[in-house]
Amino acid sequence: MQPVLHVEGLWVDYFTRGRRLRVVQDVSFAIERGEMLGLAGESGSGKSTVALAVARLLRPENAAVGGMVRLNGTDFLALVGEGLRQTRWKSVALVSQSAMNALNPVINIFRQFDDMLTAHGYTDAVQNRHRAAELLDLVDLPEQVLNRFPHQLSGGMKQRVVIALALALHPDLIIMDEPTTALDVIVEREILSKVKTLQRQLGFSVLFITHDLDLLLRLTDRVAIMYAGQLVETGPVGHFSRSLHPYSRALVQSFPSLHQHASDRRRGIPGAPPDLSHPPAGCRFHPRCVFVADVCQTAPAWEAVSEDPLIAVRCSRWKEIRDEFVSTVD
Ligand SMILES: Nc1ncnc2c1ncn2[C@@H]1O[C@H](COP(=O)(O)OP(=O)(O)OP(=O)(O)O)[C@@H](O)[C@H]1O
Ligand SMILES: [Mg+2]
Repeated sequence: MQPVLHVEGLWVDYFTRGRRLRVVQDVSFAIERGEMLGLAGESGSGKSTVALAVARLLRPENAAVGGMVRLNGTDFLALVGEGLRQTRWKSVALVSQSAMNALNPVINIFRQFDDMLTAHGYTDAVQNRHRAAELLDLVDLPEQVLNRFPHQLSGGMKQRVVIALALALHPDLIIMDEPTTALDVIVEREILSKVKTLQRQLGFSVLFITHDLDLLLRLTDRVAIMYAGQLVETGPVGHFSRSLHPYSRALVQSFPSLHQHASDRRRGIPGAPPDLSHPPAGCRFHPRCVFVADVCQTAPAWEAVSEDPLIAVRCSRWKEIRDEFVSTVD
């Protein structure tokens, strides 16, 4: 079956102060129907840029996007004008890092639903009210919320409203970019378990972005790890207890896990991510890598380790260090 989202060789350049800076390079992944893929990586690694590029929300005057993005088999990067506007919310909805601020402060919640539905051809206000109430019910909010203004709602309620808005046009794919970072842990858990339930119930796919790898390993089906604008490893969640790439291994180790004892020492990753205007030659992680060798001066390919389940890695030494790697952490 064809994936809902198929990204191949995606790159993104930002235009800033007269310079052109490549921040995403050679990113390839796919998301199947009903699947939740988690995208993790340090701050500045390009996760939000991937989200914005996939949702076609980057302005051409600010950024250039290339490679392939197919949504249900359609070349999404080739769409322009009205075709793009209509397809965008129907196929893909973005719940962003600042989603709660995306609500218009001067209109009530019903108007936010009504404006959106009207813009997509649903012009009957009575039906829209009914639909908005149904959508709020999906995220466990009472109908009365429709009469409230954003400032009258708690952070968690606003985030539920934003998720309900994202669901309004039955998108095949919802991209969630750090949707709960502004919320406390209890509310975050409630909202994420709601998203999981809705996903099972409605069958949409999710690209879930966070720097919290431990959260992804608990929430998603598959994970992709990003470093300095590139994917370095992808595989099913279970694969990451034996991950191949030195960066993913270090990232896994830098998070406290549910299964670990409090006395276990967390290990940070020495060094800092590269300046993307001067990325290191060859493997971008090599200056921080404990397994660095001469071969790392040459850029490693994005290589499939297995096809089903798909496991891919960007490390020239993964075969050599695999055993050594595992024995250092067991
Ligand atoms: N509008 C922009 N113009 C120029 N450069 C940008 C722009 N937005 C982001 N960048 C740069 O692109 C790189 C990737 O940023 P991005 O926001 O995609 O990272 P991220 O992984 O989402 O980080 P975080 O975890 O902090 O959200 C960073 O170096 C950032 O400084
Ligand atoms: Mg981001």
